[in-house]
This record gives sequence, structure tokens and C-alpha cells, in this order.
Amino acid sequence: MNPSPFHIRLDRRLLLRSLLLTTGGILTGSLYAEALTLTPRATEGPYYPDHLPLDQDNDLVQIQGQAAQALGTVTEFGGRLLNADGQPIQDALIEMWQADNNGCYIHSRGAQKDKERDPAFQGYGKIITNAKGEYRFRTIKPGLYSGRTIHWHVAVKQGDKRMLTTQLYIAGVPQNDKDGVLRRMGDEAQRLSVIREFKPKTTGSPELFGTWDIVIGHTPEEPEERRGGGRPGGPAGPRS
Ligand SMILES: [Fe+2]
Repeated sequence: MNPSPFHIRLDRRLLLRSLLLTTGGILTGSLYAEALTLTPRATEGPYYPDHLPLDQDNDLVQIQGQAAQALGTVTEFGGRLLNADGQPIQDALIEMWQADNNGCYIHSRGAQKDKERDPAFQGYGKIITNAKGEYRFRTIKPGLYSGRTIHWHVAVKQGDKRMLTTQLYIAGVPQNDKDGVLRRMGDEAQRLSVIREFKPKTTGSPELFGTWDIVIGHTPEEPEERRGGGRPGGPAGPRS
């Protein structure tokens, strides 16, 4: 499935307009690059699938060959993968994994106490970015589990190199304020860049939709960076 085209986000349009005003209409690449916030790294956590599902497409709501649909609020997100200069990155692999509606992961130790995993939820998906750097996932709002706020795990690979491991959050979730992993992610601008507004897909729709551009640098990630919440050598939380 190819991702649908996305429009430039309103906040990016406003930013561009204000930059154009302050530069008399001349907007250089370097100035634009300074306006881009690198997506901060976050711990991979303990639940990257230790057995991948057969169906690994970017629709996690529906497992191929199964009639049942995943439990929970259907939620889509997508956007563009960009480099620090604002150029789209094509042919990168974006992986996503998350808790189901019961807070359980597809991992041999991923079930929460007294909860069962939803067999209709795919739990993991991936997509290759298109020529515009676009990606998209159709999934559910992640379930809440003890010690964390609601979050999606996302990893970006170019070739065989993991460039970024990060997490995405929903604005307005009360647990965000006390979430230790979120607090350790980059500086304030970087943290804001991973807390996104999700709105009904269309007026009155029960399905949610949010946009999120992912901005990566040129340096591949070291394996230990995946366990330290974005700080090499930092503590790894038992529940992430
Ligand atoms: Fe997690």
C-alpha cells in the first residue's frame, strides 16, 4: 500500500511565511535547515518483537486472512521522513511497534499482568518511504500500561543501518507530564516535536488522525543508544 500524499502542515506553512517575512522573501536552504528540529532518540524498550508477525504491512488493524479487526480506537498517523536540510528521504524503512488495546505487545514477555493479547492486532508494521519521503500507518490508539504514557515505538533504517529509534505521543494525555522516557528525550523543542495532536479523521468520525514528520541526522545510531532513553549510557527503564 502506498501512503497517501500529505499537505505541508499548517505550523510549517506559518513558519515558512514568518521566515519569508523576516528575510524579505529570500529563504536560504541553511536558514530553513536551522528551523528543523531533529527528532529525538528514545529507548527501544524491552518489547521490540522477538517473533515478527507474518503480516508486517502498515495496516496493523487488520491481519491478512483474518476476519476480525483489532480492538481499540482506529488511529492513523503519517508524514514525511526528512534529513536535517529538509530534503525527503526515499526508500528508508520505517518500523513501528506498540501495545494493543489491553497494553500488551507481541513479545514473549509482552503481556501485562492479568491481561491477554488481542489476537486480531498485528502489533508491528513497516513501510518504505516513497519518493516524497512519505510514510503512513493505520493502527489503533495504543493501550495504556503501568508506568508509561500512551506511545508508539518507531525506528528508521537506511540500508542495514538503524538511524533512529524514537517514540511518538498524543497531545493532551495526562500521563505525558510524568512519563520518564518522554522527559529524557532531547531538549524542549525536540520533546514537543514528538507530542502530536490527533483529531477525528473526518467530522464526527470515531477514527483519529495525526501528522508527524520525522527528521534524522546523518549519524547511524549506536546499539547502546537504543537502551538509554536517548542518552548513551543512561538507565534503561524496565517498562518502555
Ligand atoms: Fe513501550
